[in-house]
Amino acid sequence: MAGPEKDVELGLWGRLMRTKFLPFHTPEVGDEEISAVVETLRSGWLTTGPRVHEFEKAFASYVGAAHAVAVNSCTAALHLALDAIGLREGDEVLVPTMTFAATAEVVLYFKARPILVDCEPDTLNIDPASLERAISPRTRAIIPVHYAGHPCEMDAIREIARSYRLKVIEDAAHALPASYKGQIVGTLGDLACFSFYATKTLCTGEGGMVTTANAKYAERVRMMSLHGISNDAWKRYSAEGSWYYEILTPGFKYNMTDIAAALGLAQLAKCDRMREARRRIAGIYDQGLGRLREIGTPVVRDGVEHAWHLYPMRLELERLRISRAEFIASMRERNIGTSVHFIPLHLHPYYRNTYQYRPQDFPNASDAYERLVSLPIYPAMTSRDAYDVIEAVSDIIDV
Ligand SMILES: Cc1ncc(COP(=O)(O)O)c(C=O)c1O
Repeated sequence: MAGPEKDVELGLWGRLMRTKFLPFHTPEVGDEEISAVVETLRSGWLTTGPRVHEFEKAFASYVGAAHAVAVNSCTAALHLALDAIGLREGDEVLVPTMTFAATAEVVLYFKARPILVDCEPDTLNIDPASLERAISPRTRAIIPVHYAGHPCEMDAIREIARSYRLKVIEDAAHALPASYKGQIVGTLGDLACFSFYATKTLCTGEGGMVTTANAKYAERVRMMSLHGISNDAWKRYSAEGSWYYEILTPGFKYNMTDIAAALGLAQLAKCDRMREARRRIAGIYDQGLGRLREIGTPVVRDGVEHAWHLYPMRLELERLRISRAEFIASMRERNIGTSVHFIPLHLHPYYRNTYQYRPQDFPNASDAYERLVSLPIYPAMTSRDAYDVIEAVSDIIDV
């Protein structure tokens, strides 16, 4: 029997099970982040200012991009990236169906059309062959999402983009830090967009970043992130600033605060260590679950470095007597939080009804969706936590 300080007790069928809930995610926020935020609060400068600029410089250098512009979400970053490439009403943008709402909705902001594309059956990243088939004379751009943190097949995607003169905007919401054939995600397209949402691999509560090698894009993103007013307008309340500014075009209110940037700087300093911690958890899962015929573990292709934002395993439903919903409910009963990434966009009422998409139009995503379960994976997890997850999964599929 477990000792009093242990988080397990004899549960169903006399097996040891957790008594303490293992959340699907908890952010890794320590004393460094708390001190950095408190220091900023005491500094007298709360919104966009020196911390944001420091964060942008440090982030650009970390991913090896010439420019980085901080914003208040990845959704804002994607919106501004599409604005920077000059997307117009009636244009089309190729977007994977296996993604979150944001990747496609930003296209609709322009009265342009997101064209959904099926995924590869193994990585669940956008499938280059399906991508090429979806191109029309109106196509302007591709937004590959590095799903779960596994980089997309960027050689094939960039080749298609070159042939058809399309822009590539990486949706790197899951992919910090990750790399493809030695090149860091964030430098693989015309622009890249990162998310610092609370569950992401670097979190600022809410936040995002645009990276690019193109100075004109960076300048446009920066200007549009703050009402379309002349650059450095943020300085107007500082000693070096001036009261004068000009509105060059109507923009948006997407700027990052110094409070968020202080948190971001502290997180960036431990980004590699946090990735190592997630990689370790993924390794434990691979070992423990890889031998189960009822479970499919995520693939990692040669030549990529995975960010391990998510660990999406798949249920081999043909070998099981329970449904995915029952599996998730049983994990919850065993005090383990899970999630599903994603309900593909073509299955949501808006996309289904507006564009008459059918599940069979996206066979790989539709099939994967039925089976997907994301397991907890974050630096605060101990090896024991990961073994508990494996034990719970093994237990449930054995029923
Ligand atoms: C693939 C993908 N893109 C974009 C976003 C949007 O990020 P944010 O919440 O920072 O706007 C998310 C958020 O979960 C996401 O998963």
